[in-house]
Amino acid sequence: MAEAMLEIADLVVEFLTDYGWVRVVDGVSFSIRPGETLGLVGESGSGKTVTSLSVMQLVPSPPGRIAGGSIRFAGRDLVGLPEAELEAIRGDDIAMVFQESMTSLNPAFTIGDQIAEVVRRHRACSRREARERAVEVLDLVQIPDARARLGAFPHEFSGGMRQRAAIAMALACDPKLLIADEPTTALDVTVQAQVLDLLRSLQERFGMAILFVTHNLGVVADLCDRVAVMYAGRIVETASVFDLFESPRHPYTEGLLQAMPQLGERGQRLAAIPGTPPMPWQMPQGCRFHPRCPYAETACTERDVRLEAVGQERHVRCRRSGELALAGAE
Ligand SMILES: Nc1ncnc2c1ncn2[C@@H]1O[C@H](COP(=O)(O)OP(=O)(O)OP(=O)(O)O)[C@@H](O)[C@H]1O
Ligand SMILES: [Mg+2]
Repeated sequence: MAEAMLEIADLVVEFLTDYGWVRVVDGVSFSIRPGETLGLVGESGSGKTVTSLSVMQLVPSPPGRIAGGSIRFAGRDLVGLPEAELEAIRGDDIAMVFQESMTSLNPAFTIGDQIAEVVRRHRACSRREARERAVEVLDLVQIPDARARLGAFPHEFSGGMRQRAAIAMALACDPKLLIADEPTTALDVTVQAQVLDLLRSLQERFGMAILFVTHNLGVVADLCDRVAVMYAGRIVETASVFDLFESPRHPYTEGLLQAMPQLGERGQRLAAIPGTPPMPWQMPQGCRFHPRCPYAETACTERDVRLEAVGQERHVRCRRSGELALAGAE
């Protein structure tokens, strides 16, 4: 088995709020191997973005801080690394694509200049070579007539094209790890599918690892090898995509699968999980999911549960996991 390229262990992230320091990511651990695509899923507010921003030490501080844990990339802990060393890694070995392409793109500069600038920051090359690389990556993301578009400003592109340009910029230095946080959520459905196809083909071609953040399990099924499910700042289950869909081990995962629009069956949404996730300053005692869990017993409300290894490459945080027969996706 290949060694992990990214290994997050016991990550704790806190924000200073009106309620004092609140923990929004609480002991998160997972790893990604070279070339692997890991989906990080969970409802809004579960801590997916904060986790992914932590990798590159981009959690806004203040009000945030990484209060514990380690994030090892290629053997080196990124937590607490000096800013200059982080800058050398960002955009080079690790690149990010965000939900909103304008988070990566600067409206005041042309697409070509922005991509060339990333290349020149990390590679010893001439202006001309950097521009050639920009043409190359714009071609890769299937921007038609790439050379002629170098002089375009972001606002001259459609939403889908802008997201492609942001992906091109992320690819400019051949990253080993691409972190994509809801990269297609802001796009309409057809464009979403095109951008996902593009990511899949780029992954096949270049073999970079991808941390893919999404609330959409359908996208996970399409794109990912493994999944980590987050709830209320914690990982509740990790498994291969196949195992997760076939036989979820955590009631929350079962709920997410049941709430998935069933493809091919009139596409209507089935039972959403009743209730809402807790706020980080009022996490329930015991299992954090117990107030919404149809299988909760008294012990679930009292005792905290650890993430336990169950079989090959699977982890689950549920004391009843062994006795429940949960339903997978149809
Ligand atoms: N700058 C901030 N200040 C205070 N709290 C924050 C800040 N950023 C995030 N949080 C809190 O951290 C928690 C996790 O947020 P995060 O954005 O990681 O969720 P998410 O899983 O990415 O949700 P979504 O699916 O909506 O993107 C939430 O409770 C959020 O309110
Ligand atoms: Mg998010």
